[in-house]
Amino acid sequence: MKVLAISGSRRAASTNTALLRGLAAAAGPGHAVTLCDGLGDLPIFSPDREGPPAPPAVEAFAAAVGRADALVISCPEYVRAMPGGFKNAVDWLVSRDEIIAKPIALLHASHRGEDVLADLRRVLGTVSAGFAPDIFDRFELMKLTPDEIAERLAAPEATARLRGFLDRLAVHAQALVSAGG
Ligand SMILES: Cc1cc2nc3c(=O)[nH]c(=O)nc-3n(C[C@H](O)[C@H](O)[C@H](O)COP(=O)(O)O)c2cc1C
Repeated sequence: MKVLAISGSRRAASTNTALLRGLAAAAGPGHAVTLCDGLGDLPIFSPDREGPPAPPAVEAFAAAVGRADALVISCPEYVRAMPGGFKNAVDWLVSRDEIIAKPIALLHASHRGEDVLADLRRVLGTVSAGFAPDIFDRFELMKLTPDEIAERLAAPEATARLRGFLDRLAVHAQALVSAGG
């Protein structure tokens, strides 16, 4: 399964991005996890600019989503909601084909953030019929240093959890393909 991992944080030392890097490192031979780094290049969404074609950064982002068999999203809570940059990216996708029925699952890097999790479930469940609310895991990484996070995610228990997460997502994605075909 080809997974596009999208972090909702642009922070250099982001715990969410670190979690997705841990997911990529934990992936077994059946899965390839690529981190998406294009969210910061996206212009502010306007329906007037959807095209076709949309701005090049949007086309590149949408193409990366389209190539993926599934998306994994890890997104911090900002002011009890999702960060504007992440919502902007979702807005660019919402009228396009790439996101429809795309299998999507959430990871979470904080012991807090129930509001953003509720937001993400509502928004992603709206844009994709493939959103899987039950495929979810959370790692309490807030306030840990990058070295501590790397050590925690490389531990056998964490690696097994991340692999299990990917395996559940692969089963879900395959079921959607089978149902559609
Ligand atoms: C502007 C801003 C607003 C925030 N608002 C909340 C909030 O409402 N609830 C919360 O639990 N954490 C809030 N936080 C804390 C972040 O969610 C937390 O630091 C998170 O770990 C950041 O993710 P990152 O490490 O991937 O950058 C906020 C942080 C910032 C910078």
